[in-house]
Amino acid sequence: MMRGVASTGVVTLMVMVLVMLNQLESAIVNGSPSSSPSNKTSCNIYRGSWVYDKSYPLYDSATCPFIERQFNCKPNGRPDSNYLKYRWQPSGCNLPRFNGSDFLGRKMKGKKLMFVGDSLSLNQWQSLTCLLHNSAPNANFTITRSPSGLSIFSFPAYNSTIMFSRNAFLVDIVGAPPKRVMKLDSISSGSLWKTADILIFNSWHWWLHTDRKQPWDTIVSGNVTVRDMDRLVAYEKAMTTWAKWIDQNIDPSKTKVFFQGVSPDHTHSSDWSKSGGKGSCIGETKPVMGSDYLAGPHPAEMVVAKVIKTMKKPARLMDVTLMSQLRKDGHPSVYGFGGHRVPDCSHWCLAGVPDSWNQLLYSELFHS
Ligand SMILES: *[C@@H]1O[C@H](CO)[C@@H](O)[C@H](O)[C@H]1NC(C)=O
Ligand SMILES: *[C@@H]1O[C@H](CO)[C@@H](O)[C@H](O)[C@H]1NC(C)=O
Ligand SMILES: *[C@@H]1O[C@H](CO)[C@@H](O)[C@H](O)[C@H]1NC(C)=O
Ligand SMILES: *[C@@H]1O[C@H](CO)[C@@H](O)[C@H](O)[C@H]1NC(C)=O
Ligand SMILES: *[C@@H]1O[C@H](CO)[C@@H](O)[C@H](O)[C@H]1NC(C)=O
Repeated sequence: MMRGVASTGVVTLMVMVLVMLNQLESAIVNGSPSSSPSNKTSCNIYRGSWVYDKSYPLYDSATCPFIERQFNCKPNGRPDSNYLKYRWQPSGCNLPRFNGSDFLGRKMKGKKLMFVGDSLSLNQWQSLTCLLHNSAPNANFTITRSPSGLSIFSFPAYNSTIMFSRNAFLVDIVGAPPKRVMKLDSISSGSLWKTADILIFNSWHWWLHTDRKQPWDTIVSGNVTVRDMDRLVAYEKAMTTWAKWIDQNIDPSKTKVFFQGVSPDHTHSSDWSKSGGKGSCIGETKPVMGSDYLAGPHPAEMVVAKVIKTMKKPARLMDVTLMSQLRKDGHPSVYGFGGHRVPDCSHWCLAGVPDSWNQLLYSELFHS
């Protein structure tokens, strides 16, 4: 009797040791960057580093007929080209190469994908449309833009639609100056969102605007009205409203919901260089090599991650912050819309970093 119990205990212990050894082994295999595409369940595709790859970029922006001038760095006069040549390499596995005809022909057939957010979403939408146009140049497409801020890129031959809805805050702002009210508890754009099969949200950059660039006069939260509040707190309240709306209105078996993580600025070189001084992204021609960023995690990204964890049916967080932090060389800087007068260290050159975001999206949609 006693011996039986004891030997059961030994067997249990042995099984536990075997399981632990097994896990250790798979951790080692998955940790090796040289291994072939491996176990997706244990590979975080958002952790890795940028590697030089002479087969990049994935397209020539000169052949993307609809690209906006603000992202079109090379024709705007950017002299260096190495920024086009970096590929995101996760530490634990390889990403599938972006295949536009596969994207259109497989899961996207008959489907609607919608980016909802600020001009960083526009940046990503343009990247995706350029990638698709490049892969399927003979597929006819149409682009329409409505005054409401909805841009629609459609491929009638594939019956698929890639949309961008400009919406910087996701929650509502109502009224006209000087009585514009930011309503942290209210979302009225949801009926548009419900028309999509795949939703990719993003919001952050506009939350920091003050003075003339701030598009509201007061903030309402619950039954309290204030002139201003800590912007990270306001952001958390709004993201919580968004998360509740998704939980209540979106059926995850029908609609895939992603939150595109916070895209970082490079306006202070002290964020990536100990001897940074007062520099910005201007003149940067190389990424931060390796996987560490001096300034550490982005506070807004931490808010988003925290809010998403509270969801009953969590959206998928595309945690692109670190990989983008490493790309201090990827911004238009003086080769964007504002030239030398208004250098741009927020948006990204195309071809460039958002192409990698879309490769990650492709991987999330079809290979995980
Ligand atoms: C991935 O790893 C997990 C846990 O180690 C294992 O259960 C699963 O079978 C693996 N999947 C593949 C495709 O290797
Ligand atoms: C891209 O996808 C299409 C359709 O699935 C396939 O026929 C083609 O071989 C793929 N191209 C590459 C380079 O993998
Ligand atoms: C296009 O896709 C929609 C669903 O989004 C479907 O209702 C419609 O029948 C499709 N049209 C064609 C011509 O396949
Ligand atoms: C695109 O449109 C042109 C002109 O309408 C037509 O000749 C061509 O076959 C179309 N291509 C595809 C792939 O539908
Ligand atoms: C504001 O709302 C809280 C709870 O929702 C309530 O307890 C409080 O009485 C309200 N205050 C006013 C002034 O209506």
